[in-house]
Order: sequence, then C-alpha cells, then structure tokens
Amino acid sequence: MSFPRESWYVAATLDELGDGLVARRILDVPVVLYRLADGSVAALEDRCVHRPYPLSAGHRDGDRVVCGYHGCTYDPDGTCVLVPSQDNPPLGARVRAFPVHLSGPFVWVWMGTPGGSRLRPPPATPELEPRSGWSSTGGRRDVAAGFMLLHEHYLDLTNVFEMHAAMVPPGIEALPPLEEVEISEVSVSYVRELPPAPLAPWEAAASGLDTDEAFGRRETGAFVTPGLHRQTYTILDAEGPTFELVRLHGFTPLTRRSTRVFLQLAWRGSAVAPDADLRLGETFHAMSDRDTTVIETMQRCLDEDEAPRRYVNVKADRAAVRARRIVQSMIEEERGL
Ligand code: FES
Repeated sequence: MSFPRESWYVAATLDELGDGLVARRILDVPVVLYRLADGSVAALEDRCVHRPYPLSAGHRDGDRVVCGYHGCTYDPDGTCVLVPSQDNPPLGARVRAFPVHLSGPFVWVWMGTPGGSRLRPPPATPELEPRSGWSSTGGRRDVAAGFMLLHEHYLDLTNVFEMHAAMVPPGIEALPPLEEVEISEVSVSYVRELPPAPLAPWEAAASGLDTDEAFGRRETGAFVTPGLHRQTYTILDAEGPTFELVRLHGFTPLTRRSTRVFLQLAWRGSAVAPDADLRLGETFHAMSDRDTTVIETMQRCLDEDEAPRRYVNVKADRAAVRARRIVQSMIEEERGL
C-alpha cells in the first residue's frame, strides 16, 4: 500500500534540529529541514535546481542554504537568490518549500498539494503542549515496514497476551470485545473497559498507587490521521481517573516499506512516581522493540508472498479494517479514481 499525501506528517521533533541542516526522506521525497533565526522551521526539497545534489550537503548562510557544489543559494521559501558564476539567478529557479507547523515537540510538514494545508490543520496534541499539566517524554525509531502495518497493529490490542503478557493487570485473562468502535469518514476509534484488578508492576512503578487496591482501566485507541495514532490508558478508582497515560505515535512513511515512528508518552495522576519518566520510557520502549520485531516480520512475509494472499479477519480487527479502508479511499481520491 502507498500513502496519502494530503495529510500532515511529523517530520522531526524540535530537539533534533540544531544549527545545521537535517536531511530526511518523507513520503519518498528528499527533504532538508533547518531552524530559522525567528525559531520557525524551513522544509525544502533536498535537491539543488542546478544538478542532482542534496542541499543538505551544503551549508547555511543565516536563514539561507548554500549548495555545497557550485554555491547556488536559497531563501527559506525555496527561491534561488544567488548563482555565484553569473549576475542573476535564472528566472523562476526555486525548489519546493513545504508548509511546516510546530506543535509541542512535533515539527509537522505538509507534503500534499500546495495550498491544501490551509484547509486541514494538523491534529491537536494538547497533552504535549507546555503548561498543559501533563509530563511527557519521547523517542523515535525507524521501522522496516509500511505505515499501515503499524496503525493496524496498534488498533488491535488483543496481541498483548502473546506479546506483552507482563503489561496485563494480574487476573485479566481476556480483553472484552471492542464494543464501542466509533467510525467517521476520516478516523476510527475504540473504547474498552477492564474489570477491577490489582496493578501490574509497570503500573505500580509509574502511577505510585497503592498496590493492595484493585482498579478499573479504560483504554482507547484512535487512528486520528494517516500520520498520527493516539492511545489512552486510564487507571480508575471509585472517584474516577487516578492515573492517565497518553501514547502518541507519529507514523511518517519514509518509503512504502519503511516508517519513522515518533513516540511521545504523556501522563498525569494523583500520586505519580518521581521517576515515572524513566519507568514509562523503559516499559514502552521495550514494548516498541517487541512490536517492531513482529511488524517488520510481517512486512518481510508480505514481500515474500509471490501473489497477494487473503488473510482472514476476526472480530478484533474491526477498527483496523476500517482504518485501512479510510486510507485506501484517501489514496484513490488523490489519484482521482
Ligand atoms: S549543484 Fe548545486 S549549485 Fe551546482
């Protein structure tokens, strides 16, 4: 499966952008990112107009980028403003500049139709904003698999018993079925409630809650856009939420078979452990390691299948199947089918 272009994707996290030029491949397009003097970020196609040479191999001159081959120089809007070997640059010489939106740690980029970004704002991530009252930590990794395999994986949590048994609260033997799957034209989400159970070790370590008590859990998952997956995990006592965890995955296709994953965790609660960032970071990065192994294996199996196979869907796949349909129809619409 290919990927929709008319959508926002996470290009980087702000902490990745220092003083230099950062080269990325996003939706199979080479992109160079850099920070401007006013704190905003420029994203240009990473190819000089003169020869097939990446701008990211050049250097900066203030807010401009200078090609490292013959010195053609570009403004942040992509206009070529200087060709050292002649008085004026050729008329209309420019590289494509992509709209960028900064939100919390995420640097969002729009790779679709120029002007289309104004019609669709990037998805909101309020838990990651400064002064939101949430704490957060994050990381990133490249996964050798198409981005839909990741969305589908995270829309079916029934894999936890096989893959992440230590994450399951003690005494929970099965997940209740996905009763509440909410489907719109562009998104899919589900809600699931678990019966009261004691805390799993990772929950106790992060939440700081009493290990002698039993708590309920509510989990939700959402395919928000092709570029963002959102999961929440809430531990409930008799009064309501007492520990809340949000797991945001920015899924950015690099190519059809590779995806950069930007994982951000955000949490708040009544008795949060002082080292919750370390505990949650360790727990969920180890979980992502196991997820990555399975997802990359599925991509290899798909690549090995000589002819496309039909795989059987079960009830737990309901949300994942719907998300795939949404993405398929976005791609077809973009192709004018
Ligand atoms: S290739 Fe960039 S200036 Fe010649």
